[in-house]
Amino acid sequence: MTLLETVEVLNVLIVGASQGIGLEFVRQLLKDDQVGRVFATYRNAPSLELNEWLEHQPERLTLISMDITDEAQIAQGIAHIQQHTTQLHLVLYCVGVLHDGELQPEKSLQQIQPERLMRYFQVNSVGAVLLAKHITPLLKHRDRSVFASISAKVGSIGDNQLGGWYGYRASKAALNMFLRTVAIEYQRKSPNTVVVMLHPGTTNTRLSKPFQRGVPAEKLFPVERTVAQLLQVIHNLQPDHSGQFFSWDGSLLPW
Ligand SMILES: NC(=O)c1ccc[n+]([C@@H]2O[C@H](COP(=O)([O-])OP(=O)(O)OC[C@H]3O[C@@H](n4cnc5c(N)ncnc54)[C@H](OP(=O)(O)O)[C@@H]3O)[C@@H](O)[C@H]2O)c1
Repeated sequence: MTLLETVEVLNVLIVGASQGIGLEFVRQLLKDDQVGRVFATYRNAPSLELNEWLEHQPERLTLISMDITDEAQIAQGIAHIQQHTTQLHLVLYCVGVLHDGELQPEKSLQQIQPERLMRYFQVNSVGAVLLAKHITPLLKHRDRSVFASISAKVGSIGDNQLGGWYGYRASKAALNMFLRTVAIEYQRKSPNTVVVMLHPGTTNTRLSKPFQRGVPAEKLFPVERTVAQLLQVIHNLQPDHSGQFFSWDGSLLPW
């Protein structure tokens, strides 16, 4: 029996659910009979899809506003969830930024700008560890639980052959170190929780759009495929996998 199969009804939190991979997690998990409640966060306003699904399943889906760069909003969001349940079984951190207006991945050292590096770290790394800080009471229970964060293979130091993308790469490497450290602390504080980092593969979302030209068609996954693959990896997890960095096919990635 796999880890989450031991839990009768799963309560799930998806952070960064307004579009892309996070939104697709909400769609697929709402179709899963094992899933009880789904809590989904958005930053500015819920997307049309989230509003539509809320209309159809108001008893299962709860939408929560949360900008991950504001710790007070994280705390308020967790308090909101605690009004509905004392237990979460699956938490998915799907937030990330690669480009946004003037923020573009650096091609060379000359393009490094400290405030832009800080933005990468704030969204891609610090947000996840702040979430881990505040979410612990909801994960600490007798059932099994999983805290999974979407990372990226380009955050692997050992795998970096191409260079470039300083801020994005370093912020994902920092995310991996933060969560590896969370996994160690959780062995004592929340021993039934497995903490993992997941590389989704290049996926057709807003984040990858400007960089898809050189990607062979078979290596550019539709978001439906990515999420189905990641859910398979999550369902195959075992307790001793905590602290590991997995690729979409279930293989381990080098740090
Ligand atoms: N797509 C790929 O090829 C690929 C490859 C490797 C790794 N990843 C990783 O996969 C994850 C999901 O990315 P995606 O492809 O689904 O990209 P996406 O469609 O651009 O989605 C990114 C999500 O992050 C949210 N977000 C950004 N800044 C935020 C903040 N300050 N507070 C709260 N939410 C914030 C966005 O919210 P808004 O809608 O409000 O902007 C959106 O929901 C990211 O961690 C990314 O690094 C993606």
